[in-house]
Amino acid sequence: MIRAARAGITSTGHFVPADIVTNAHFTAQLDTSDEWIRSRTGIVERRVARDGATSDLAVGAARRCLDARGVSPAQIDGILVATMTPDRPLPSTAAIVQRKLGAVHAWGFDVAAACSGFVYALITAAKLVETGALRCVLVCGADRMSTVINPRDRATAVLFGDGAGAVLVEPIDDDAVGILDHVCFMDGGGEEALYIPSGGSLTPASAQTVAAGEHFVVQDGPAVFKAAVTGMAEVTETILKRNALSGDDLEWLVPHQANRRIIEAVAKRLGLGVDRVVINLDRYGNPVAGTIPIGLSELHETGRLAHGDRVVLSSFGAGFTSGAVYLRWALGKS
Ligand code: ACO
Repeated sequence: MIRAARAGITSTGHFVPADIVTNAHFTAQLDTSDEWIRSRTGIVERRVARDGATSDLAVGAARRCLDARGVSPAQIDGILVATMTPDRPLPSTAAIVQRKLGAVHAWGFDVAAACSGFVYALITAAKLVETGALRCVLVCGADRMSTVINPRDRATAVLFGDGAGAVLVEPIDDDAVGILDHVCFMDGGGEEALYIPSGGSLTPASAQTVAAGEHFVVQDGPAVFKAAVTGMAEVTETILKRNALSGDDLEWLVPHQANRRIIEAVAKRLGLGVDRVVINLDRYGNPVAGTIPIGLSELHETGRLAHGDRVVLSSFGAGFTSGAVYLRWALGKS
């Protein structure tokens, strides 16, 4: 086993379905309004996959990520897929992505941590690379949320979207950049605030559970909102403090995209101007594990990241789970 000094993100890519669903779609069928959705969430439209599965979103993002780096699928030795909407309960979506990509030398697994899934998967990949266990890990965050949201529940229907992002994690020889630190918390007491009641081992799927709509996400929105503001601020403040940084020192915060008001409250607590915070939920809603890698990929693609930039990725989601990663951008050295 070769020991690597440091793991870093060496490529990014994202994929969102072509179909756009605007707020008008919901105002026609539910007791809601464009004004309510925009002012209470910041969401204007979201993407919806009409067919296929979460693996297709992940593969779309992965192909772009690999092409951008000029890496072939056969060169990948690890695949981690963060998702709460796996293609099937069995096998893992990572195995399906491996087959669809033709990544014949890779092994891997799914990471189930809802909105924190990508952050947890990225940390896991970094550790596998740092120990020398793996050398080229594809980390995908992908969710087809349209399959688990009740279209008749106005409290959840308007919030989510479908999409995926992917990054490559590889050893880098410059110790000053790469994935430098992480902080994660979990509070299992949040279970009843955000969950899917049936379809698991506690209450297996049956005609009755499906008729009762128990395969859809149930959320106590205001409770999650309060916990998210506190939880995302806490994990972000902790990682900044541990690295002797203030909000001013960051070039970018890439937060999970659940609600614009959550993001703004966290940025305010950190003293960070929203011009240095990635916000794309107006266009994509909340594609759960996809939000952070899509945001990172768009930042990179549009040339807004420079070598050495200080970036914090920050998440909060069902569980409750939260996590933050501190990195210095490893790409683009002149
Ligand atoms: N249109 C109109 N009214 C609505 C809608 C809607 N689409 N959805 C909910 N409401 C109503 C509720 O029924 C409630 O009505 P009531 O007071 O008569 O009971 C009222 O709005 C609540 O309004 P607010 O107090 O404004 O609620 P809040 O400010 O909390 O906003 C929201 C609601 C947008 C759902 C917010 O709570 C939120 O974003 N929560 C967090 C979502 C989140 O972070 N999820 C976690 C990530 S997802 C994951 O991990 C899988």
